Amino acid sequence: MILLKNAFVVDPAQQLEGVCDILIDHEKIVAVGENLSAEQAQIVDLTGKILLPGLIDMHVHLRDPGQEYKEDILSGTRAAAHGGFTSIVSMPNTQPPVDHEAIVQSIISRSRAYGYADVYPAACITKGQKGEEITEMGLLHKQGVIAFTDDGKGVAHAGVMRKAMDYSRIFGGVLISHCEDKDLLGEGVMNEGIVSTELGLAGIPNAVEDLMISRDLMLAKLTNSRLHIAHLSTKSGLAMIKAAKDDGVSVTTEVTPHHLFLTEENVRGYDTNTKVNPPLRTQEDCQALIEGLINGDIDCIVTDHAPHAREDKEVEYDYAAFGISGLETSLPLVWTNLYLSGKMTLSQLVTVMSRRPAEILGLDKGTLKVGSMADITIVDPIVEKIVDSKEFASKGINTPFNGLLLKGWPDKVYKAGRLVVDGGRLVEWEGNAWI
Ligand code: DOR
Repeated sequence: MILLKNAFVVDPAQQLEGVCDILIDHEKIVAVGENLSAEQAQIVDLTGKILLPGLIDMHVHLRDPGQEYKEDILSGTRAAAHGGFTSIVSMPNTQPPVDHEAIVQSIISRSRAYGYADVYPAACITKGQKGEEITEMGLLHKQGVIAFTDDGKGVAHAGVMRKAMDYSRIFGGVLISHCEDKDLLGEGVMNEGIVSTELGLAGIPNAVEDLMISRDLMLAKLTNSRLHIAHLSTKSGLAMIKAAKDDGVSVTTEVTPHHLFLTEENVRGYDTNTKVNPPLRTQEDCQALIEGLINGDIDCIVTDHAPHAREDKEVEYDYAAFGISGLETSLPLVWTNLYLSGKMTLSQLVTVMSRRPAEILGLDKGTLKVGSMADITIVDPIVEKIVDSKEFASKGINTPFNGLLLKGWPDKVYKAGRLVVDGGRLVEWEGNAWI
């Protein structure tokens, strides 16, 4: 047994925000309260530390199988733990894509064996992500697939998307829509506007995203199915989602730290680490997204962790891969820019980084209630550190946040009662044959 003592505990699911103790027995939380004691328990004094339900990131690219030079399940789950995440959803745009049972089994069993974070695989909406024929969604769902998406691409054909929605409704699955009209996207590499013109780079207007958001909201209404809009980046898209929610459509959405805290202005130095899809937008978009997150119109924060190898990024802007390695900077960015700045309470932070993702995915997680899995993230609020991608556990060091001084770094992380991060460093253990 482990007795975590005197931490400031934040768990909105049980309206808990105050100093108390938590008792862990094997992988479960067995008691939460003041002045707990337990014979023979290992006591961990957490005075001055802040204790949260383990964070959940429902949008992560693990690149495994097929692109292990960018990331693999071990490095990706270590990066997750290092960033304070105890559960993640893996995106299916691997090589080959996750569109049949064998790959799903392989992802689940390997991530369990490593033990750093729970991985819930998402599978493709269409076979081979070709946008033509839908996958065996019901079967895949039974195998443990938590959501369906062709992330990395939009499903261009409205009839195919409608069919996918009809099927997913039968078993109550969530469809995650990567909203992008590829014809309008053309060769675009950054947000379309004055900055793209000045830089001589091809632009991506908001309409590339908004067209498909609008279509999918209509289809979700038509089919009465569960829709989740991925990596929202536009103020106009948010307005449509809010209107659809008000209209009773069962839609949720997510935003990334880079779309909250960076704009197209950050592209001016041609740093390819700012090249991401959807692109970094304008200050007006960022402002609307922050407001939407605070007032609950945006349900959660995800990283869209998209690790790439050096050679994918150390090329001209036009040729660089889209994506940001985000797992190891998300919590400190949100902590510093939203919580410490007074825009958001700790309880709201837990809601958008743990509780809501659990609810959207239908997981019995995102809380520290008695009987829950002991997935716990502990922050030392005193620690202040400069982002340095050399310290990442991820193979992807492609971050535009290097050099930023931030607070809110995870100090300890428990995954199912096992200490996986201690003093901000990953814990290695005997028997882990892959390290
Ligand atoms: O920037 C991105 N990179 N956006 C996506 O939607 C896909 C991702 C990737 O797979 O690299």
